[in-house]
Amino acid sequence: MNGDQLTRADAPAAVVAGVGGHVPSGVLTNDDLSARLDTTDDWIRSRTGIARRRVAPRGTATSDLAVAAGRRALRSAGSPTVDAVLVATMTPDHQAPATAPEVAARLGLGDVAAFDVGAMCSGFLYGLGVASGLIAGRVAGRVLLIGAEVLTTVVDPEDRTVAALLADGAGAVVLRAGTPDEPGAVGRVVLGSDGTRGELLKIPGGGSRERQSGHPPTPGSAYFRMRGREVFRQAVERMSDASRAALEAAGWKSGDVDRLAAHQANARILAALGTELDIPAERQLSNIAGTGNTAAASVPLLLADSARDGELRPGHRLLLTAFGGGLTWGATTLVWPDVVPGH
Ligand code: UT7
Repeated sequence: MNGDQLTRADAPAAVVAGVGGHVPSGVLTNDDLSARLDTTDDWIRSRTGIARRRVAPRGTATSDLAVAAGRRALRSAGSPTVDAVLVATMTPDHQAPATAPEVAARLGLGDVAAFDVGAMCSGFLYGLGVASGLIAGRVAGRVLLIGAEVLTTVVDPEDRTVAALLADGAGAVVLRAGTPDEPGAVGRVVLGSDGTRGELLKIPGGGSRERQSGHPPTPGSAYFRMRGREVFRQAVERMSDASRAALEAAGWKSGDVDRLAAHQANARILAALGTELDIPAERQLSNIAGTGNTAAASVPLLLADSARDGELRPGHRLLLTAFGGGLTWGATTLVWPDVVPGH
């Protein structure tokens, strides 16, 4: 876990200066899914809390959603200038190069540093850790951090469980150098992983392991595979532990948290997490019913939606947490600043 010895008291903190979200216009309802798969609206709603999800039209790639969300976050921040662009995604446009340089170019940001963060659904929390480090180390003064996914491209059309969960979207924040005690300052970012359980959430194909196997790709190896029940248990446990560590670093008790912004994986995971942390539903932000699970885009999109809807207000003490494949997880705290989501 992140050691105190790494913290330099005089290092600048990463401070949220802008936020924006973007979802594609396509809507896929539970009834749409049950028309072609052996599932029902009732099963999906009761087991996941999802009623409908956003889907990107044919021809729309992750960078397209990332550019739209990034533009909104830059508008929200009131300045079109950053020193680095990070795109957290598990559905990059290409296996190489990274998606971030193209996003930076299309946003007209010049020849800034740009790279992707690969931590599946924890990507935004990992990105916050990386951005905090870039700012603390004075590598960058302003960072655009985007979570973006076109997850429907990795859904096996025959897999009713995964099809019910995954969706497309993007969310972004602009982070600027500031002081640790000002609103918007990102607290200690607690990160962790457990590679011994990598099999629980995986896209098995498309990489060097498959190419070096000496066999042609297995049909369906480019689809997302998940062992749902075990993932559920791990998600609750890991997000709870990371959240407790982040709260302790901030000197907060769970009663101090005004809003919990957790990865929107499944409404039942969110309920179990709330019970573990003693944060009731009225202090939890949620958009999963209409947005589904958008992996690395989930937390920043939730922040943008909640700020727009007035559920998240300036001065709210916010706990953020996420869990994803790897396994990976993360959590941090911040006091929500006076920012208006960009449109
Ligand atoms: O973002 C991180 C990645 N993913 C997650 O965080 C997902 C974590 N896991 C979950 O959200 C839940 O485990 C699921 C929603 C995936 C599944 O819910 P569950 O309550 O754990 O169900 P289950 O896997 O234990 O399956 C219960 C039953 C099974 O049938 P049998 O074996 O009891 O006859 C499944 O085959 O539900 C069946 N089932 C479905 N039935 C109708 C699974 N998917 C569906 C479906 N419609 N879409």
